[in-house]
Amino acid sequence: MELAISDIAKRFGAVEALRGVSLTVQSGEFFAILGQSGAGKTTLLRIIAGIERADAGRVMIGGRDMNDLPVRARDTAMVFQTFALYPHLSTFENLAYPLREMKVPAEEIRRRVGEIAEMLRLGHTLARKPNTLSGGEQQRCAIGRALIRRPRLLLLDEPLTNLDAKLRHDTRAEFKRLHRELGTTTIVYATPDQLEALSMGSRVGVLRAGRITQVGTPFALYEAPDDAFVASLVGDPPINLVPGTLREAAGGASIDMSFMGLDAKPWRAALDGFAAGSRLTVGLRPQAIWPSTGNETGPRFAARVYLTEPLGDVTILDILVRGETRLRMVLPQEQAYRIAVDDEIECAVDPDQICLFAQETGTTIHRDGMARRAEAAA
Ligand SMILES: Nc1ncnc2c1ncn2[C@@H]1O[C@H](COP(=O)(O)OP(=O)(O)OP(=O)(O)O)[C@@H](O)[C@H]1O
Ligand SMILES: [Mg+2]
Repeated sequence: MELAISDIAKRFGAVEALRGVSLTVQSGEFFAILGQSGAGKTTLLRIIAGIERADAGRVMIGGRDMNDLPVRARDTAMVFQTFALYPHLSTFENLAYPLREMKVPAEEIRRRVGEIAEMLRLGHTLARKPNTLSGGEQQRCAIGRALIRRPRLLLLDEPLTNLDAKLRHDTRAEFKRLHRELGTTTIVYATPDQLEALSMGSRVGVLRAGRITQVGTPFALYEAPDDAFVASLVGDPPINLVPGTLREAAGGASIDMSFMGLDAKPWRAALDGFAAGSRLTVGLRPQAIWPSTGNETGPRFAARVYLTEPLGDVTILDILVRGETRLRMVLPQEQAYRIAVDDEIECAVDPDQICLFAQETGTTIHRDGMARRAEAAA
């Protein structure tokens, strides 16, 4: 079922929780809302669900204006950030609860609880009370309770936050499978975790301080972020942001950083409106920096290794450049194992992976020819 919201605003006293949010989610889409704590995710989902009233704006579900429709009539289910199961009821009864409220006949309840329990691998827990279930089983039970009414719009608010890392990974995969199996159910999934948003959402909307700043496919957000904020939110470890200054010289413009210079040619058209001396921010992905082999033609610089963080298949290196700039790089283990803390290394940068932003506004300065490609990717 299609969800279309326009110009939603919500204020709590002095706090502007939402400042004009507009979004369209296609029928059957898995749409992720990525935002830090306090960005307004829960408020937005509660307004869509009808639990909270917006001060302004419209919510349309399946082409119908929801503004004056009660929660029950919305064909929407929400799994809350702090989910609560009925502690005195078994898994079976927790799952059956919404159906009993709808006066569904007992035989059908038994069948549908069985189906949901199998889908969510809860069959072995049906007779047990919530306090005897593992965290993941409790979570799946809460999700099952939302699904059992077969809502055509499912709102999930950080549903994996209370799980450990392994279970999160498994449940992420489970959600994708569930979405495929449910077919036409539209899912809106709110999370502060970029990995969750990018791995599950077919599109992601970035929510920042009550505003949607960018909507796009995971690929588009990573490849063509609209601003430095999105760039630093998407990608792990986060992108390195380094101050730079635009310089004009006889041979063409360049961007000076304290430790390295860059040819500005790839951004020539976009930098047209910038005077020499303009302050820029240069974005270097940790994946775009590596120990030089001596053969690279792109920019290079010397650095000292400050910290190493081996993660198994890759190692994150924190390096210190000229004693003042901290950068992160990430290397495959087979390249990293020779490198130790306090080593002096020469680093190379892939010039094709560098992002450029206006320092004051954070707005992306696209490579020539890139703006159109970014639009196409979104
Ligand atoms: N009932 C309320 N009264 C006052 N302020 C509120 C209320 N609900 C939310 N807020 C404020 O609105 C802003 C958005 O809150 P919201 O809960 O939507 O954020 P969130 O993105 O869900 O954050 P988190 O990731 O921490 O759950 C916050 O500044 C919060 O303090
Ligand atoms: Mg929240």
